[in-house]
Amino acid sequence: MGEQKLVTLTIDGRSVSVPPGTLVIEAARRMGIEVPSFCYYPGLSLQAACRMCLVEIEKAPKLQTACTVVGVDGMVVRTDSPQVHQARKNMLEFLLTNHPLDCPVCDKGGECELQDMVFRYGADTSRFVEEKIHEPEEKWSELVYYDGPRCILCFRCVRVCDEGLDVKALGVGQRGAYSTIIPNRGDHLECEECGMCIDVCPVGALTSGAYRYKTRPWEMAYKSTICTHCSNGCKTTLSVRNNHILRANNRDLSGINREFLCVKGRFGFDFTSHPHRLRQPQVRKNGALEPSTWEVAMKEAAARLAAIHKAHGPQAIGFIGSNRTTNEENYMLGRLARAVVGTNNIDHPRTADYAGLAAALGTPAVAAQRALTMEALGEARAILLIGNDSGLQNPLVDWRIREAVRHHGARVWVIHSEPVKLGKRAAQFAKIPAGTEAAAVRALAGKGPAPEGAEPALAAVKKAVAAESDVAILFGAGVQGPAVADLVAWGNALPGRARYMPLGDYANSRGAADMGLLPAALPGYGHIADAAASSHFSKLWGAPLPQSPGMTVLEMLKAATAGKLKALYVVGANPFRSAGISERPAGLELLVVQELFPTETARQADIVLPATCAYEKDGTVTNTAGEVQLLRKASDPPGLRSDFDLLRILSHQLEQQGLGKAIHARNWEAVFEEIRSEVPGYGISLPSLLAGGAELAAACATPNGHAPYDVPAGAIRSAGDSLFTSGTLGRYCTMMESLAEAGAKP
Ligand code: SF4
Ligand code: SF4
Ligand code: SF4
Ligand code: FES
Repeated sequence: MGEQKLVTLTIDGRSVSVPPGTLVIEAARRMGIEVPSFCYYPGLSLQAACRMCLVEIEKAPKLQTACTVVGVDGMVVRTDSPQVHQARKNMLEFLLTNHPLDCPVCDKGGECELQDMVFRYGADTSRFVEEKIHEPEEKWSELVYYDGPRCILCFRCVRVCDEGLDVKALGVGQRGAYSTIIPNRGDHLECEECGMCIDVCPVGALTSGAYRYKTRPWEMAYKSTICTHCSNGCKTTLSVRNNHILRANNRDLSGINREFLCVKGRFGFDFTSHPHRLRQPQVRKNGALEPSTWEVAMKEAAARLAAIHKAHGPQAIGFIGSNRTTNEENYMLGRLARAVVGTNNIDHPRTADYAGLAAALGTPAVAAQRALTMEALGEARAILLIGNDSGLQNPLVDWRIREAVRHHGARVWVIHSEPVKLGKRAAQFAKIPAGTEAAAVRALAGKGPAPEGAEPALAAVKKAVAAESDVAILFGAGVQGPAVADLVAWGNALPGRARYMPLGDYANSRGAADMGLLPAALPGYGHIADAAASSHFSKLWGAPLPQSPGMTVLEMLKAATAGKLKALYVVGANPFRSAGISERPAGLELLVVQELFPTETARQADIVLPATCAYEKDGTVTNTAGEVQLLRKASDPPGLRSDFDLLRILSHQLEQQGLGKAIHARNWEAVFEEIRSEVPGYGISLPSLLAGGAELAAACATPNGHAPYDVPAGAIRSAGDSLFTSGTLGRYCTMMESLAEAGAKP
């Protein structure tokens, strides 16, 4: 593309050059000039309803709305003239004709755009003496409340629900001064409950059932961190008072999701204070779990692990890691299993084939070229989605795809066994029988027949994709093992560029795989049998690394039943539930669980160690696109320890028991530094990360002739979460669980 010619205009005496098509309000913002606005909202269609953004434009006969006028060469704009100030004052007077002056009791007080504008530009008296229209507040759902008289009819809520969410749950009823916002079911809402309408509402007309009247904005501390639910990695700001998280939003519009949060990100934080949260270590005595102390529980865990190690060798011990713990914790767990205990029996509940993609791409350089960030997805022109209902499973991905369609006219093709929300935006929906994603990919790649009945649709998708110059290819858990290799071979051979995004389930699903919580892969996907990769980490960790293949989660559970695996150490996972096991495997002599809740697995454990969650710790996580972001501790629950601390302490105690060397990591930063310098593809830059940005990692060791990673049946499986579920964590999110829509989940 040639260099874009800019247009130059003058605003308040200073000149600014902007791309053609830039609105005057945006051109002014670039110069740091804030033009007041209510109905204008970046990314949504233009409304020109509030007239707050009136500015003077030379040669125009009257004031113009800066939110609808496009800047052109030579245009002269004044945003600060007496005439403009008077117009703002008048508009505010109009808005206040009916708006109640109830700021002291309004939930928005202190962060209300109308309140701010009136302070800045408004009159201190009103000429209206008529009685205002009174309407009672309406409860539209457990989470969304509407106070009609406060509404200034900016229609941001209607547009965000329609254009942003594609839900269309809000509309406008009545006319003129009686206009009101109405929910889709007459007196209540049935929708995705994302709270985006509350978030964009500039005033206190829409308020959150989860937060209202609990506190005031100036009484809270604010922590920017990353949502702990799905794999998309939305940045969120947690509002905290007295060590309690009271609210989550992303009102500063920064990060890979800008303002977007789905229902889980916005309302799924109350698991942190759930009454069933584990608060004290427990040790099984006489068949029952009893409260214990950290000292006793940790010592017992180490002593019993060491005894099993001594009696049966390291292969009798297995480790199962988590999709939500940090990269540093995952890296520590891998090191503990491989270098301290000496086993490759390490895995986690895998939800996408990240290792397969790394193997197919081959090197970090290629992986980086072929990666697709969340931002790039929103700008894509052609998108192929295979075997994932992003509307339910990956809400930010879905939001970004809709953005690409709205703003860039992106063409979308969906291959799935069931109708999906995105289907109505798709140029082609190819329905395939359930479980035939791999066959569909083989058909695209010309390596096999199409699944039954899908031939014409798949052929049409294949033809359309081949005509594109740049395609974003997203795929779910059904595309795994050889199917990933087929997909990448086909994508890389397309005439245009193909970029890939595997879609996993949870906040650090990708980080767990990247950090080597896999039986055959070291951090960065170096194969355990690869001499170079193995000797690299062996030197770094000061211990020889085991070469014999390890077991997957299911294999470990099977081996435990057969009495071949004697000890299982589980960190933040619930393998008994996912494998449908109700009885503890008979041959298991020791089960240690680091957890937040008394899960099906924790309840059967010998030792339970209560751990902190992602909102209570620092560290990094990697989203499904490979973007690394910082977690920041928002609250500090008394008596709990992070998985990082638990693993570090355990390594010291195992050393005392005669196993390998303890892990001397001062803090998470020290481990992160090691990851940055030693894990292929993770040499990401720090400044933007520390400033709250996302940095793309491309973990992908050169395979050096080793076969791609095996994917035994059942090793990679999506939990199939809906918008209102989130694995174990979702079951303890009281607010989400209370929603009528959550009860009606598919
Ligand atoms: S909560 Fe979300 S889906 Fe429901 S009305 Fe508001 S914007 Fe629409
Ligand atoms: S409810 Fe809020 S966002 Fe919706 S139109 Fe009224 S003021 Fe605007
Ligand atoms: S899309 Fe995913 S990461 Fe974003 S808020 Fe929802 S659950 Fe959290
Ligand atoms: S912001 Fe321009 S008319 Fe509302």
